[in-house]
Amino acid sequence: MKSLIVYDSVHGNTEKIARAIGEAITGEAQVLHVEKVNPSEITTYNLLIIGSPTHGGRPTPAMREFLSKAPALNGATVAAFDTRIPMKWVRIFGYAAGRIANILKRKGGKLIVPPEAFFVMGTEGPLKEGEIEHAASWAKEIEKKVPM
Ligand SMILES: Cc1cc2nc3c(=O)[nH]c(=O)nc-3n(C[C@H](O)[C@H](O)[C@H](O)COP(=O)(O)O)c2cc1C
Repeated sequence: MKSLIVYDSVHGNTEKIARAIGEAITGEAQVLHVEKVNPSEITTYNLLIIGSPTHGGRPTPAMREFLSKAPALNGATVAAFDTRIPMKWVRIFGYAAGRIANILKRKGGKLIVPPEAFFVMGTEGPLKEGEIEHAASWAKEIEKKVPM
């Protein structure tokens, strides 16, 4: 299986989650910063996972730009995640993962699991305890569902 994990990260927390997902997935898994990926090439993978920090309830500007340039996904298997802060006041803005998932679905991607959240303890982190293990188990759950 060939997987691509695309992430954005300002303070490194989302990158850590992306790398933990990449390590947990069997087969060839590439983990790349959003600015290193050519959007037109993302349909050559069996599995595409996209993750971003939540900024003002949305993915980062770089991730939004990447998603806007993504080609038609024609039933490609996709999943989405974000990092976010576990605080009541930020809930009113919404979160990045659901928005990423909606864009991927609109482009014709087949969302294989619900959008997933990983928590950071503040804007710069660190990740909440257990989130690296959570990322690995989420990756395993995805892997089981990928059509081969
Ligand atoms: C400009 C900005 C806006 C943010 N807005 C939100 C938000 O709306 N909701 C939330 O849960 N966290 C918000 N955060 C916190 C980020 O989710 C947190 O910085 C991020 O998950 C850390 O990931 P990173 O280390 O990969 O950058 C914001 C952070 C920044 C810098």
